[in-house]
Order: sequence, then C-alpha cells, then structure tokens
Amino acid sequence: MKTAVVTGANRGIGLELAKQLLESGYKVHATYRNDSGGLSEIDSELLSIHQLDVRDLNAVSGLSDSIEGSIDILVNNAGIADGRWQSISEIDMEHALEVLHVNSVSPVLVTQQMLGKLSSDSVIVMMSSLMGSISDCRSGRSYAYRASKTALNMFSMAMKNELDALGISLLIMHPGWVETDMGGPNAPLSTKESVNGIMQRIHEQDLALSGRYVEFDGTPIEW
Ligand SMILES: NC(=O)c1ccc[n+]([C@@H]2O[C@H](COP(=O)([O-])OP(=O)(O)OC[C@H]3O[C@@H](n4cnc5c(N)ncnc54)[C@H](OP(=O)(O)O)[C@@H]3O)[C@@H](O)[C@H]2O)c1
Repeated sequence: MKTAVVTGANRGIGLELAKQLLESGYKVHATYRNDSGGLSEIDSELLSIHQLDVRDLNAVSGLSDSIEGSIDILVNNAGIADGRWQSISEIDMEHALEVLHVNSVSPVLVTQQMLGKLSSDSVIVMMSSLMGSISDCRSGRSYAYRASKTALNMFSMAMKNELDALGISLLIMHPGWVETDMGGPNAPLSTKESVNGIMQRIHEQDLALSGRYVEFDGTPIEW
C-alpha cells in the first residue's frame, strides 16, 4: 500500500488532499496543529491523524519515527498568510519572520526529518504559490507571504540535485486561487477543483519533471 503525509490537513486544501488521497487508496498520515477539524469527520481505516506544529523539530521527527515503511508522497501544505500590509511602514517584522518560519523554513525541516523515509520514486509536493513568482510580482505588497513562497521555491530547487540522486521528485505547486480561509470567499476555485488538478500533477510526476513550478492545471509558472 502506498503512503502519503499531508501537513496542515485539518481544513482547506490540505483536508481535501487527505480525502482524495484516501479515495485513491493511500494510507494517509494527516497532521493538524491544534484542532483536528474536518479530519475528525473522516471515517477511514487508512487515515492516521497526528498533532503537529511544523515548526516543532521534536514533533516532526516523532512523526517520521512513527511511520512504518516508506513515504511515497510528502505534501508540505501547511502555510499562513501575512498581515495584508498596504505599505512598507506597516510591515510587522515579528509577523514577517513568523510567515517565513512557517512557509519557508518549516517545509525544509519536515523534508529533512522525513528524508530517511522517502525512497526512489517518492514525490515531495511543496505547496508554493504564484505569489512566489518574482516575474509575476507586479502589484507588489503581500510582502512577507510573497517572499516566503519565493524562499520556499529556492529552498526546493537548492535541494533538487540531492533529491535527484536519491530518485526523489520535487513538485512545486500553485494550487490556484482557492476558496479556503486563506483564499477567501471570492476565490474562483473550490478545494475539490484545485485538488483534482493537484492529484493529476502528482500522478504524472516523475524524476524527469522534478523541479517544475506549475499551477494546479499543469500550466508552467515563470520564476
Ligand atoms: N487558498 C489559496 O488560494 C492558496 C493560493 C496559493 C497557495 N496556497 C497555499 O496552499 C496551502 C494551503 O492553503 P489553504 O488555502 O488551504 O489555507 P488555510 O485554509 O488557511 O489552511 C492552512 C493550514 O495550514 C495549517 N498551519 C498553519 N500554520 C501551521 C503550523 N505552524 N503548523 C502546522 N500547521 C499549520 C493550518 O492549521 P490551523 O487550522 O491550526 O491554523 C491549516 O490546516 C498554503 O501553503 C497556502 O500558502 C493557497
């Protein structure tokens, strides 16, 4: 049986990913930070839920130790928005560092601690964003969120050669603008539509495609 790990799976895109991976027959290790949320409503023997703050080294290494066998898909999905500051003078530095911690550094920590469980043909999904694209940054603002996803993209590409040598493929995803707590009510995509696409991208992913930065529908994104 294939095994998947999804961080930040109690709501939003992560919850829908956990559901669709279960429907595809994966054993799913789904994590939540405080409240198991929508995960508690899923009735499946294939689901294992774990309390995990992605910033917490002990919790992350404990989760890795607790997983039997290898991990086929690791989805670094957990993320936070920034303060929607409208000008440089409004940027809250403490919050900016928190955004970088959760969105950029923690996916690296999770990957590092899970690496021993990943094997040839495993896929790591980094849930990035179009907002991490420097060439797409025309309207500016969203300072810390944009920077955090750009940093995540570079952390990912900096790990790529080592992952290639291990046969592990890297998929850097923009899920689209999705109706979640983060995406807000005006977003054009449902979590189902976005995750349908993400699942297709995961299933077609192989080593030759490692390091691609794409939208949920497969459209390539310029860095
Ligand atoms: N929605 C969009 O339009 C959109 C667009 C581009 C990219 N993305 C990216 O897609 C991913 C999922 O977004 P979403 O829209 O589903 O967001 P969401 O509904 O706000 O859910 C975010 C998830 O991340 C978890 N999380 C936050 N901080 C965490 C921490 N320190 N440790 C563990 N879990 C933590 C949250 O847990 P709690 O419930 O405990 O807070 C929640 O489960 C994010 O990386 C986001 O940046 C989303």
